[in-house]
Amino acid sequence: MHYPEELIEEIRVSNNIVDVISGYVKLKRKGNSYFGLCPFHNEKSPSFSVSPQKQMYYCFGCHAGGNVITFLMEYEHFTFLEALQELAGRSGIKLPNPEYSKEERIKADKKSAVLEINKLAANYFYSMLKSDSGKVGFEYLKKRQLTDETIRHFGLGYSLQYRDDLYRYLKQKGYADELLKESGLISYNEKYGASDKFWNRVIFPIMNVNSKVIGFGGRVMGEGEPKYLNSPETICFDKSRNLYGLNFARTTRKQYMLLCEGYMDVISMHQAGFTNAVASLGTAFTERHAALLKRYTREIILVYDSDDAGTNAALRAIPMLRGVDISVRVLRMEPYKDPDEFIKNLGADEFQKRIDDAKNSFLFEIEMLQKQYSMDDPESKTRFFREAAIKLLDFREELERENYIQKLASIYKIEPAQLKSLVKSVSITLSGSPAPRQPKSTVQKKEKEESGIILSQKLFLTWLIEQPSLYNKVKSLITPKDFTEDFFRRVAEMLYEQLDDNKLNPAAIISCFTDEEEQRKVAGMFNASLGQIETNDEKEKALNDTIYRLKENSIKYASEHLDSTDLKGLQELVKERKNLQSLKQMHIFID
Ligand code: CTP
Ligand code: MN
Repeated sequence: MHYPEELIEEIRVSNNIVDVISGYVKLKRKGNSYFGLCPFHNEKSPSFSVSPQKQMYYCFGCHAGGNVITFLMEYEHFTFLEALQELAGRSGIKLPNPEYSKEERIKADKKSAVLEINKLAANYFYSMLKSDSGKVGFEYLKKRQLTDETIRHFGLGYSLQYRDDLYRYLKQKGYADELLKESGLISYNEKYGASDKFWNRVIFPIMNVNSKVIGFGGRVMGEGEPKYLNSPETICFDKSRNLYGLNFARTTRKQYMLLCEGYMDVISMHQAGFTNAVASLGTAFTERHAALLKRYTREIILVYDSDDAGTNAALRAIPMLRGVDISVRVLRMEPYKDPDEFIKNLGADEFQKRIDDAKNSFLFEIEMLQKQYSMDDPESKTRFFREAAIKLLDFREELERENYIQKLASIYKIEPAQLKSLVKSVSITLSGSPAPRQPKSTVQKKEKEESGIILSQKLFLTWLIEQPSLYNKVKSLITPKDFTEDFFRRVAEMLYEQLDDNKLNPAAIISCFTDEEEQRKVAGMFNASLGQIETNDEKEKALNDTIYRLKENSIKYASEHLDSTDLKGLQELVKERKNLQSLKQMHIFID
């Protein structure tokens, strides 16, 4: 599914970024730009800027940035296409739909119908909770100390004792049985016909990141089996791609998120002010969940129940989170079982203390490991240290490993030197060589380090945008060919074309990238500035260095990739090398 570039550009320019963002953020004019409180992180003084000239926004606090399309993708969590559709609608541009296949169309329609049904059902359950017949449900939630505000915020509800009142309600709204079945709220049976999935339970609507209701959980009030009943997976409910509470947690933009097990845990924590709590609801935490979290946070504090099941679940989640480079700590709730109980008994301040004291996940893993061994028995104790040594091998960085060796040695009362030599010896027996093992994770995709050369390519483009007058001075020295990173070369090509035509338009370049990550990368580049560099002299030095390094790298790259029979290429390279020498002597002035 694709739209032509011209159309994308038409949609973009017909939606003034200041107007669009004003619908979400209160903006105030300051000089050439508008400023407001950043919607992407918590702040008290405005560092979120919108430039009508550039048609871009940028936050000096959290570095979110982009054009009007990026804004909707980030704010509403739209895909590129959804953002485009929204903007087209706003400006009355008709989008052609030819590239949707018939099946795609049907699927999309079905999906939006199921979302509609869910929304109706959620409202229905909510109004039942507030009705006379729903008193039991309401009282149950009250007994669990939920406030009216919390009940409203999470849209909690109640399903009546009747076996088909929701069915009748939805039928009367005109939905076909086929579709109702698709929603997972209604089931059919030869003998009894249609019946509701939930009866006589308090209802927890499950929302996706855009706060659309995608499924439900229902709890018995009191004892009874099963304690929770959940919607089956449907066309819009994929359990491994959603986390309960994430729609709220994502807007807190705290440094970390709290990951727990259940509905009531999330709700109690939010009610106590910990609005960055999420849960993986009754389904095991998976690598998909980890990847989802990675989009919103860099640190997770695990708040799993303090029983064996919770501990084991934590031990399984830790490597998955580490695998996507999220750092993990583990919060202990003893003597209580879960956050709900803890907060009820000790309150929010004590809970905050436990957050502050949450244990480093590696030390937690070792602590749990140690429980399997008896430290009184020399043989068992030796085996424990051996296992710990194996785990220490996961740290690839020498210093980090060393630090952990020191730490474990002091906790478990062993000489650091002894533990260190044990690590060395297990590594030899394990791999035949003393090299540390690679981490095992499957999802690990270490982001490429922003090495000096990548930085030079990026900086150079940033400067061209900030100071387009430089273009005429540098265009003969550096061309898009000199960008060895594919991504930057693409940006450079577009930018050079615009500068040649004297039509600098960075916001248009952003929409050439439909991938959110790439958009963010371009936007960041276009909004970074030479701000940190103080004097003009320093700026000039930085610019000249950057040009030299860029060229040097380009030549190096070319010579590594040159076909030895390519005489012309070889000559070219010799010439380039000579030029590089003179480039060293040259000085470009910024004025
Ligand atoms: N769960 C489930 N089905 C069950 C039991 C649990 O789907 N039969 C899921 C629910 O999502 C639940 C989570 O696992 O929220 C954690 O279970 P538990 O700790 O038992 O539930 P709590 O949310 O703590 O609920 P409560 O405090 O009401 O016991
Ligand atoms: Mn629980």
